[in-house]
Amino acid sequence: MTDILNMLQAPGPAMKDILVKASESNWVPTDPNGKAFIKVLWTCAESGGWAVMHKWKKGYVAPPHKHLGAIHAFIVSGKLQLREHTIETGDYMYEPNGIIHESTEALEDTIHLNIADGPILFFDDEKITGYGSWEQMYRVQQRGKDL
Ligand SMILES: [Fe+2]
Repeated sequence: MTDILNMLQAPGPAMKDILVKASESNWVPTDPNGKAFIKVLWTCAESGGWAVMHKWKKGYVAPPHKHLGAIHAFIVSGKLQLREHTIETGDYMYEPNGIIHESTEALEDTIHLNIADGPILFFDDEKITGYGSWEQMYRVQQRGKDL
């Protein structure tokens, strides 16, 4: 190893890239009506972050939620209605930590990439109904291996 590589090398265990062949992994159904699926690409226990692909069929409506960590969203294909925004193929949206999103509707069959910094809190008109975090995404990823 050259001197510059020795100097730049991170201390501790050898670091490795994580390559996910997303085309070879399974879509895991997440909606009882068969309109929403997830492919989990990555989860991180240390940071609480995750990266997933969502596939929503036209007409799927995602429930209201509050972000407890920011999300970077990229529309691979399709079209979503998110409050006043129509976001479609090629669009990127940054959803900041703390923002509240009312229902989000798939106007077309849509695939979108989400890179999340932290959990999501779901609610209805009266109460908190659940949350999503790297832990749930990890479990979904494990379920996908058995499909
Ligand atoms: Fe959101």
